[in-house]
Amino acid sequence: MDWGTIAVRLEDIVAAHSGEDTFDEVHALIIAKLAHTHHLMEASEFLPASRRTQRVNEWLDCASHAWPELHTSYRSSLADSALAECASLLEHRSVSHHWTEGLDAIFEYLTTRHMKGSKGQFFTPRHVVDHMMQVLAPQPQETVFDPACGSGAFLVSARNKDERCVLYGADISPRAARMCRTALVPTGVSASSIICHDSLDTTCALPQSWVGTFDIIATNPPFAGDVTNEYVHSYALHQQGRRTERDILFLERCVKMLSPNGRLGIVLPHNKVGSKRYAYVRRWLLCHMQIYAVVSLPQYTFAPHTSQRAVIIYAQKRTTPLHRPDDTEQVCFVVTNVESKDASGRLIEDPGSSHVRHDLDEAEERIREHIKSCNVGNEWP
Ligand SMILES: C[S@@+](CC[C@H](N)C(=O)[O-])C[C@H]1O[C@@H](n2cnc3c(N)ncnc32)[C@H](O)[C@@H]1O
Repeated sequence: MDWGTIAVRLEDIVAAHSGEDTFDEVHALIIAKLAHTHHLMEASEFLPASRRTQRVNEWLDCASHAWPELHTSYRSSLADSALAECASLLEHRSVSHHWTEGLDAIFEYLTTRHMKGSKGQFFTPRHVVDHMMQVLAPQPQETVFDPACGSGAFLVSARNKDERCVLYGADISPRAARMCRTALVPTGVSASSIICHDSLDTTCALPQSWVGTFDIIATNPPFAGDVTNEYVHSYALHQQGRRTERDILFLERCVKMLSPNGRLGIVLPHNKVGSKRYAYVRRWLLCHMQIYAVVSLPQYTFAPHTSQRAVIIYAQKRTTPLHRPDDTEQVCFVVTNVESKDASGRLIEDPGSSHVRHDLDEAEERIREHIKSCNVGNEWP
């Protein structure tokens, strides 16, 4: 059974047995399981046959002691009988230290499920996240930021690539930020580096102090929706009297948040590179960043949430913006067309293996070669 299915089953059990918020209960179970995996107390069994409720809460006590920054004050009220069903799903599962598979699937399920109605809150498939981190190649002590971090997939992937990079995340949803902290605090990331915040808000003190500081930004911002907040007027890409799309503001914000020579990997709707209407966005971007590569993703990459086509842009911030784009700079365009999902959003595996089918490895090779050929001394590792 995959972790996404486990998440669905856990939530069903909790919903059937409890009047409590299912998000909090499932989140508590996951933290208890994490405490067990980290051996926070001497107990071989996760949930023994009797007094299961008491044991869950003992694990939660240990977790709040070990990771006070997680603020795990919630205590389970599930009866032993319901916990027996949850135990059968979780008992023999191990939550890997590297958190590669599994828990982010649960987090994704819980986060999206509880953010229904909000726009653009779908998650990036793991193989796309990992491909982006391969290209961005975080190095020891480099800072990595995701301004729309969700449950932290990009940050987890960066940490798996190099344990010594320094991670920062922000998400407007308190639950997403909480999930992201749960994923990262037990691995030593400070909870104060993962904030619940509107990353587009240029008037707030904390992210203002982060402006211009990050070595790497990797993100898949929400595509949908226009922004009407007062702060849109502080954006160069806001056009008086016209709708201002959220992803355009995210793009500008990311550029501002990067340090000079900082590296950007961002997922954007295809129309931002293809449509005449956004020529002004591309012009602005080319003046502020050297664009190395644009990767077009297959149509169902974000199914079932949307079949809108998307691209990944890889770019590096200029030390000084240009007045006009430099026509001599070459951009590597890569079209990936091996669908990793079917139209219903189910991942397609390579025959005879449990690997998701995709052609992003070939894309990575081409992008690396291209960057190497044009990045003379600009520090793209
Ligand atoms: C498409 S999801 C991507 C999540 C995650 N980075 C991933 O790729 O799996 C976009 C995320 O942006 C968050 N978001 C939307 N508007 C935001 C804002 N103004 N500031 C910060 N986060 C925002 C949503 O809550 C959601 O978690």
